Amino acid sequence: MPKITFIDANGTSRTVEADVGSTVMETAIRNNVPGIDAECGGACACATCHVYVDEAWVEKLPKASSIEEDMLDFAYDVRPGSRLSCQIKVSNEIDGLTVTTPEQQG
Ligand code: FES
Repeated sequence: MPKITFIDANGTSRTVEADVGSTVMETAIRNNVPGIDAECGGACACATCHVYVDEAWVEKLPKASSIEEDMLDFAYDVRPGSRLSCQIKVSNEIDGLTVTTPEQQG
């Protein structure tokens, strides 16, 4: 099972196992990882599942769709590694992915 590490805005790190075929957002919710609201349930319509992808992983992930890019405009404190975690699919290739949750969502 791939593992994903979530680091919160205070620097606390949580590493959890993720199901292949789910999303990074669903993995966070299922494991009670704080800092991800996911108000729209993964429909790419709220931007409250915003995360910062670790620099080492930015190029390894499939690129954001134009819909995701547009929705990211509504996220809080967008940075170069910003992604919507509901749009990042879990696969064995992302084993070890590290993301940081922002100070706040929305
Ligand atoms: Fe709403 Fe990701 S959960 S955009």
